Amino acid sequence: MNNQPIIALDFPDRLSMSHFFTFFPKQEKLFVKVGMELFYKEGPQVVEQLIDQGHSVFLDLKLHDIPHTVYRAMRNLGKLGVSITNVHASGGIEMMRAAKEGLLEGAQESGKKERPKLIAVTQLTSTSEEMMQKEQKIPLGLLECVLSYAQLTAKAGLDGVVCSALEAKDIHSQTHPDFICLTPGIRLIEDNNGDQKRVVTPDQARALTANYIVVGRPITKAQQPYEKYQQINQLWNGEK
Ligand code: C5P
Repeated sequence: MNNQPIIALDFPDRLSMSHFFTFFPKQEKLFVKVGMELFYKEGPQVVEQLIDQGHSVFLDLKLHDIPHTVYRAMRNLGKLGVSITNVHASGGIEMMRAAKEGLLEGAQESGKKERPKLIAVTQLTSTSEEMMQKEQKIPLGLLECVLSYAQLTAKAGLDGVVCSALEAKDIHSQTHPDFICLTPGIRLIEDNNGDQKRVVTPDQARALTANYIVVGRPITKAQQPYEKYQQINQLWNGEK
């Protein structure tokens, strides 16, 4: 599935986000990710503003609570008109099903035609195998745990998971070919890796069967963000 790279809008506030958009042509419709930092500062209005401007939004809030609370929260997120949002798979199958029900109900109420996609975080990339075994008391290898959560997510009827592109082939083979693998940790060869450890280039991500890529700092910190975005987009879509 080839599509636009999702730009992670990891900015402290709306003002710095708006400054970033000045580097892009006004008519350019983007796919962006809004995370906790921006959402908790600016509230749902920032998401509504982006959607009103014609952008698609992946709202990355990683919900994890009792099923009823997640259901109610997801109904509100569904009403915003987001294209993708997410939960933690460790919340369990009942919570994931409740999340999907709430999201779809909210979306229906919003009147948006596109059905929002719901994906799950398996293990955060900041969790090492040692931490998982010692702190979470999960006696599995990290990949084994990721695959097990991916299967649980598919069983709950969700659309996919956030994962490393390096895990995408295994996840597709353990779930189904349409299962979404949305992958951060994308860098060009000349980029600084920052705190990302297992990185791949956009064309490698495509070859590894990733369905979406999320790119933050390589674009947001670039001297020429739009040029960098186009370069990444072309590599991702196999045009270069
Ligand atoms: O700047 P960079 O390209 O590393 O940004 C990647 C984005 O993806 C960040 O918003 C980060 O929080 C997010 N992310 C991640 N790893 C995950 C889940 C989300 O890097 N497992």
